[in-house]
Amino acid sequence: MERDGSTPAMFFRQHLERFETLLGLTPIRTVTIDVLGRPRRIHLKLEGQNLTGSVKGRTAYGLVRGLAEDGLLRPGVELLESTSGNLGVALASMARYLGVGFSAVVDPMITAECRQRLAELGATVITVDRPDPAGGYLLSRLATVRELVATDDRYVWANQYENPRNPEIHRTMTGPEILGQLPEPPDALFAAISTGGTFAGLAQYFREHSPRTRLVAVDINGSVAVGGPPGTRHLSGIGASRRSSFLEPDMIDQVAYASIAEAAYYCRLVLQESGIHLGGSSGAVLAACVRYLAAHPDTVEPLCVCADGGEKYQSTIYNDEWLESIGEPADLPGVHRTRTAATVR
Ligand SMILES: Cc1ncc(COP(=O)(O)O)c(C=O)c1O
Repeated sequence: MERDGSTPAMFFRQHLERFETLLGLTPIRTVTIDVLGRPRRIHLKLEGQNLTGSVKGRTAYGLVRGLAEDGLLRPGVELLESTSGNLGVALASMARYLGVGFSAVVDPMITAECRQRLAELGATVITVDRPDPAGGYLLSRLATVRELVATDDRYVWANQYENPRNPEIHRTMTGPEILGQLPEPPDALFAAISTGGTFAGLAQYFREHSPRTRLVAVDINGSVAVGGPPGTRHLSGIGASRRSSFLEPDMIDQVAYASIAEAAYYCRLVLQESGIHLGGSSGAVLAACVRYLAAHPDTVEPLCVCADGGEKYQSTIYNDEWLESIGEPADLPGVHRTRTAATVR
């Protein structure tokens, strides 16, 4: 194939370089939340403002650039990925931009908003509705991906769960960006885990460039991404029904689990008090951060990586009936009861 007189490899490389210039440089906003009666500042890295609407714009770029470098990105291929939503939207945008196909293997937890966006971007959506033994759908989704790859060689699997290009892009792009944006390195960093790619890449970067930054991995009840008992999960984006291939014990200072009720509480508080519209995993990360601050009075520059914005969660996290339908309690544990305000500067 010749496009504009260039070879396919040159075509993809030039388009990927252009894509990179549109990614990243997401803002950091600082909110003040009362924790046990004391106002505490928390930096929020707002990845919802990234190209494609989430931190997964970076991951998709890292994965696809790797496929191009390995010579696997050719005209006529069909990119394939198991996704809970955000990576699918990011890959669908890239596939469209590069003129190749994209098939997303999803499950019923995907938000209606994500599903619609995938369709708008021209992706083929394959829904797997058989739960796996670990309380989610990931293992069933991966089985479907493997079947597809085995039966049709047009499929090229990005494999966010095992491809080292996933953490690599966060080590080389997201980490330096965060450190360059703050006058002082954060003394604690909180990020949600699913594949663990974002956290692992950030951990590698911060261990080397800011070893004093404490690294807190935030998971959701029922996830086994870093161990723990499996359970039913209702929120997309955070948690996994398999262990992360990327997370090593020396990358993590603490694992914090959050409930959906806590996540919803902080999403709503921040929206109401500051106008910042956070996605569900960001609410979980903020809940973990507040608990950490209650236990660590000396932490003064915490940073939460907020993976996406709230637009996709109107029918879940921001919806009272949904919370009731999954049996989430309205009551929150003690540390969350004292807060009065979240102001933003
Ligand atoms: C909203 C949201 N938060 C957090 C994550 C976790 O990212 P990672 O897979 O890099 O661990 C994801 C991943 O899909 C996500 O969509």
